Amino acid sequence: MILYLFVIILIIIIYWIRSCYTYWKKRNVPYLKPSSLIFGNEFDFLFKKKSLPQIMLENYNALAPHRFGGVFSFQNPVLYIRDPELVKTILTTDFQYFYDRGFYLANKKEPLTQHLFNLTGNEWKSLRARLSPIFTSGKVKIMFRLMKECVDEMISVIDEQILQDQCFDFKELLARYSMDIIGSCAFGLKANSLRNPNSEFRQMGIRTFEMNMKSIFRTILFAFNPRFTNFLGIKSIKNDINDFFINLIKETVAYRKKYNIVRNDFLDILISLQNEEKEQVNKNVTGNGYSKNAKIELSIEMMAAQSFLFFIAGFETSSTILSFTILELSRNLELQDRLQQEVDKMYITYDGEITYDSLSHLVYMDKVIAETMRKYPATPFLMRTCTEDYLIPDSNYVIERGTVVFVPIYGFHHDPEYFPNPEKFDPDRFSEEGRATRHNFSYLPFGEGPKICIGIRFGLIQIKLALAVLLKRYNFRMSSNMKFPVEMRKHYPLLSCEGGVWVNCVKRT
Ligand code: HEM
Repeated sequence: MILYLFVIILIIIIYWIRSCYTYWKKRNVPYLKPSSLIFGNEFDFLFKKKSLPQIMLENYNALAPHRFGGVFSFQNPVLYIRDPELVKTILTTDFQYFYDRGFYLANKKEPLTQHLFNLTGNEWKSLRARLSPIFTSGKVKIMFRLMKECVDEMISVIDEQILQDQCFDFKELLARYSMDIIGSCAFGLKANSLRNPNSEFRQMGIRTFEMNMKSIFRTILFAFNPRFTNFLGIKSIKNDINDFFINLIKETVAYRKKYNIVRNDFLDILISLQNEEKEQVNKNVTGNGYSKNAKIELSIEMMAAQSFLFFIAGFETSSTILSFTILELSRNLELQDRLQQEVDKMYITYDGEITYDSLSHLVYMDKVIAETMRKYPATPFLMRTCTEDYLIPDSNYVIERGTVVFVPIYGFHHDPEYFPNPEKFDPDRFSEEGRATRHNFSYLPFGEGPKICIGIRFGLIQIKLALAVLLKRYNFRMSSNMKFPVEMRKHYPLLSCEGGVWVNCVKRT
């Protein structure tokens, strides 16, 4: 009897799954058949068959020549957008229909998840407006001083190690550099990961991105139904990571307030935002103590969540771009030479000093970095969720509310239609004439529209600073430890290299 019941339930489940997979066919939308019964088109990612960039490119190519097409994440339909004009409409013009990313991970019981990337609707809008002033050029310029301390530390670490070995894993070294910067600017902490790779701060960073069986299981549950998974009390951030970052911010804020310490970093700005809000709330309190116009308070937990986001959004992306730039320069010596000449000239013009303003004159460096972000976009796709039924312009198809939409950045960046010979590293693609040959929205390393990366200025200046200082002092040459083409890391939510980025580093004479 039990066996019969089991078989009947199994048949019902299989029938239900199969009916889910008819979603795109019924709507006459071109689509890719699911590669597995349970996981839809996610099998290759979840079971480490292919890297995320590879999947993005294969799906993008397989859906050609259509403007859009469907896949399945488990049983959920996901719409890939292949037309840059439609990408523009979704990310900017008709943004009001695609307001959320759709992660739905922000959960009051897990304070660290309440950050800008996860927040939705008006909560996101209000916080974005409040955080934007943190990233103005004036504020980033003030923090440049802290970045310089970290770059000096990196050079002294390289100089010491170079005596023993000239071959470096630049991914590892530059991740430690980026981590020290974000530790200093967002947590007011000397993270010391350049000198001590086992520092607690660095270990917490590594563990945040760690993927093991438990996190796979969590990912699967969140993919099935994030709200239900939250309801079950399953956490998306490990308890010790949560406690570490919240306590760090609590203690630092209390210490700064007690001793009136001002460092002009992210944390100071968050503290002043909190103070301004308190004043605002006090002004708005009416006679009966009821607040007319109060915003959500920027509590210590909210501050910790934003600092945590700057940490996860900033360190991996910046170090990926930096290390791949060094790698490409080691393979293209002519380009390296040209860039070194530009850097040398800048040092001469500015009396051997490097400043925030002097870096803005490195025009060729801008092109080199732009080309690295084209070939190796740290974030291989953008995600939005349709928040209101939306008729795709020049089509009969209505995207239903709740449908997830992907913009496969890696696919666009490797499409010969926009970037001929895409495997070639060619910074001149970003000359004025080069840019004019393609649609603006075929190149999206930082995303676009109101949800565009908030940290562009901060990220780019830390990249330019490190590159200028490194190129002034060292030559980079290919190492036999490095495989090319690069093998991308599998089962990882960002673009990253398997086994590090190994390059020989020799002091310039
Ligand atoms: C330099 C390398 C970086 C790259 C390539 C990068 C890329 C991105 C991308 C693609 C997005 C999604 C945009 C979208 O959905 O349209 C994003 C969002 C974001 N990034 Fe960055 N990022 C970088 C550095 C940083 C840094 C240094 C910070 C902070 C210190 C930062 C903070 C954020 C935040 C807070 C968001 C969410 C914005 C929102 O939802 O309103 N990023 N970034």
